[in-house]
Amino acid sequence: MRDELDLYIRARYPLLWVVTAEEQRALREIDELGKAQRKRVQLWSTTRGLVNAALPDREDTSKRDPLQLLKSILDDSEAGIWVLRDFHPFLKDAGVVRRLREIAFSQSDQKANKTVILLGPVLKLPPELEKEIAVVDFDLPTSEQLQRRLDDMTARLQEASRIEVRLDRRQRAQLVQACLGLTAVEADNALAKAVVQAEGVLDGRAIEAVTAEKKQIIRKSGLLEYYDNTELIDNVGGLDTLKSWLRKRVRAFTDEARVFGLPAPKGILLVGVQGCGKSLIARSVASMWRLPLLRLDAGRLFASLVGSSEENLRQAIKTAESIAPAILWVDEIEKGFSGVGSSNVSDAGTTARVFGSFVTWLQEKQKPVFVVATANDISGLPAELVRKGRFDEIFFVDLPDMDERREIWRIHLAKRNREPAQFDLDTLAIHSDRLSGAEIEQAVIAGLYEAFDAGRPLAMSDLLDVLGETVALSTMMREELEALRAWAQQRARPATSRPR
Ligand SMILES: Nc1ncnc2c1ncn2[C@@H]1O[C@H](COP(=O)(O)OP(=O)(O)OP(=O)(O)O)[C@@H](O)[C@H]1O
Ligand SMILES: [Mg+2]
Repeated sequence: MRDELDLYIRARYPLLWVVTAEEQRALREIDELGKAQRKRVQLWSTTRGLVNAALPDREDTSKRDPLQLLKSILDDSEAGIWVLRDFHPFLKDAGVVRRLREIAFSQSDQKANKTVILLGPVLKLPPELEKEIAVVDFDLPTSEQLQRRLDDMTARLQEASRIEVRLDRRQRAQLVQACLGLTAVEADNALAKAVVQAEGVLDGRAIEAVTAEKKQIIRKSGLLEYYDNTELIDNVGGLDTLKSWLRKRVRAFTDEARVFGLPAPKGILLVGVQGCGKSLIARSVASMWRLPLLRLDAGRLFASLVGSSEENLRQAIKTAESIAPAILWVDEIEKGFSGVGSSNVSDAGTTARVFGSFVTWLQEKQKPVFVVATANDISGLPAELVRKGRFDEIFFVDLPDMDERREIWRIHLAKRNREPAQFDLDTLAIHSDRLSGAEIEQAVIAGLYEAFDAGRPLAMSDLLDVLGETVALSTMMREELEALRAWAQQRARPATSRPR
């Protein structure tokens, strides 16, 4: 952030908004910046009024009132930086908004370079100020910063003989990796907790403990889920083209690949029939590539209870980037962005804006975050999303064919501890025409119940009975399926090489 902020201040931007929950760390950086630029830094909060950062004990409570404060900034003839902490609630007041605009306007005809920084965890710009305020992202700590923090902390505690450190170099690096995605304070707390749990020892166990803590923290943020429940690619039946595309990119995020001249892959969109393995593939990419998997709930992006949609997306992207290389799985993306371009959605404006920033990020992102998006309802899929350049590839996942079904039967029988060789997989595959992978899995389970109830081992007849009673979803939704196939023929690449 420091460089960006430095640049804005030198360029005489009058109003900046720094979005972060890490007030202390941000203040420290602003303070250093003030010193480097030889500028007075003054801190405001609604409780203490105005305080000169160099003289922290002297508070000017007469400036607790936001209007008074802004007037004094406007009248001040000296250059300086004003940091207004948690100021956003006051932006509801028309007078406050107006004063901020006046400060912005006055900057151009003043000699003194004045910068007002709004610092707080949320970003909610009133429309009147959108043009006047520049938003600065305060990034989560980098691995170098976390590394230094870890070193400082262990040195300090070891010196005081408070803890015993038993970490080799590799474990240290892994521990730093585990802390990525956390704020500095969160990382400290997670480490402290791990040490207490291990009764004063900091060793390899801390990696697990910190990762567990990180899952909690990411989940609490509401939108992202750190996904553990990954799947082995061998448990995905069929879809050979897609699987080999992914296999070819196993080392896509290594330095070797960069040196070789390869760009990092951006992501894929999986469109297709329900229950045919789109989500399953998303989960298996993570284990194949050995990268952490974050799941973004596109539907909740717009649920107002979690916060403002734009801010939600920003946060999610920031978290994903901070633990990069990582996989960001956006499941059922059409559910989040179905309002784009339609006027009958009440907040079409917000949806379009959030969608716009998502697409921009997708196309321009620098950090190695691989996006796996899935969709099964193309009617809700905005056309901009499938345009060239957004994803590396759009795959169409169709119903499995005969051979693929045989493979899926084998996988699911084996998953339930049955020996696939004892079943006639060809017959099962023939009798499960038009069924999806999910339906085949269900048939295995239903067959097991039959056998369990009758008190005997699972037999072919159980499975065939179940199949006789099963009506495939694809039969019930024949027209939708045909429409989907027609759409895919134009725009997507088949996930399988098998002829249809
Ligand atoms: N190709 C497959 N190979 C093995 N199992 C499969 C396959 N496709 C689906 N399944 C089984 O069905 C379950 C549901 O599939 P999945 O959730 O991946 O479907 P989906 O394509 O995401 O469907 P939806 O569009 O409804 O989200 C999987 O967890 C898996 O057990
Ligand atoms: Mg799914």
